Amino acid sequence: MDAIAVTRDDRTPRVVDLPRPEPGPGEALVRTLRVGVDGTDHEVIAGSHGGFPDGDDHLVLGHEAVGVVADANGTDLDEGDVVVPTVRRRPDGDNEYFERGEPDMAPPGRYAERGIEGAHGFMAEYFTSPAEFLVEIPPELADLGFLVEPASITEKALELAFAARSSFDWRPESAFVLGNGSLGLLTLAMLDARDGFDRLYCLGRRSRPDPTIDVVEDLGATYVDSRETAVPDAPAVHEPMDFVYEATGHAPHAFETVEALAPNGVGALLGVPEAGWTFDVDGSDLHRDLVLENKALVGSVNSGVRHFEAGVDALRELPDWLFDALVTGVYGLEEFRRAFADDETTIKTAVQFGAQ
Ligand code: NAP
Ligand code: BGC
Ligand code: ZN
Repeated sequence: MDAIAVTRDDRTPRVVDLPRPEPGPGEALVRTLRVGVDGTDHEVIAGSHGGFPDGDDHLVLGHEAVGVVADANGTDLDEGDVVVPTVRRRPDGDNEYFERGEPDMAPPGRYAERGIEGAHGFMAEYFTSPAEFLVEIPPELADLGFLVEPASITEKALELAFAARSSFDWRPESAFVLGNGSLGLLTLAMLDARDGFDRLYCLGRRSRPDPTIDVVEDLGATYVDSRETAVPDAPAVHEPMDFVYEATGHAPHAFETVEALAPNGVGALLGVPEAGWTFDVDGSDLHRDLVLENKALVGSVNSGVRHFEAGVDALRELPDWLFDALVTGVYGLEEFRRAFADDETTIKTAVQFGAQ
């Protein structure tokens, strides 16, 4: 079967021929429909994040998949079910995080991530997965199923953020999304669709005309250009933010988020920065600000089955025009390279492996 992989010698994604996998006990065989591409895939391709499976010279890419069950193999699934796989898998040995159903809370070294860290991804005509990691989605959502994984990432981050404010009556009205990439824009739309969050802002570093700025403004949000308004200046130029969602991977933003927050606000950090960022921080101000204004910062990575289920519900609340604007290309294998374009006309792409 065809798959898209990078090798240890050549990090350019290319089509490779691999045997179709056989499902083991408890696993189903899935025929792949679409696999999305995000900033993490670019980091994996560049070699700044993730790693190859032990003993293999190649890594099949892709962690945002949707497919159809081709062989239920005695699991509770049915052939024809449309499913989305979660990303983390058990590495060898006992693992209390997986046993508790909380693989997304496992620390580095206690998990593999398909298509990212130590396990092959889903960019292949078929993949197998333990049934417990396959989330069934409504068939009518199949075309957009590759957005369930990124939506689940935001569902988990929101869960952690709200949990961090659960001891008082937190009613966030303003939210500032840092980053106008695919995760930032999807999150902006998800916040727009939720109750509360009356005033939304999104940070980028681009000039008009730009398709991401169009999405921000079509959502009724305010575009903030980081070249004109630095993150710490947002409260003075706009307003103090009840919630900040960092999705740039620009390391200074992690700390500047604290200055952008309103008293009692919470910042969720999602970005995965490249190594080597060093900069000065006024530690006293940062510390005082967090303590004296009851602010919180939470880091959030990955997501579990319940976040995928919440992600499905969240996608159903989003308008059709948003998907048309966000998904700038779905490409078959013959032109898969276009799905890895990283230019200013590209927002969200997917590779199409098969039809429903
Ligand atoms: P992406 O497409 O690369 O988006 C990042 C965006 O941030 C880009 O649009 C970039 O603008 C913008 N940006 C970067 N530095 C900026 C600055 N100084 N000022 C203003 N805008 C800036 O990546 P993505 O897929 O949306 O993901 C966002 C980040 O989250 C990545 O670091 C990714 O690894 C991470 N992520 C984490 C998780 C998790 O589980 N924690 C899940 C998914 C993704 P330009 O395009 O103009 O350069
Ligand atoms: C994926 C997550 C993964 C994270 C860190 C993200 O792009 O969506 O599932 O845990 O990268 O590797
Ligand atoms: Zn991702």
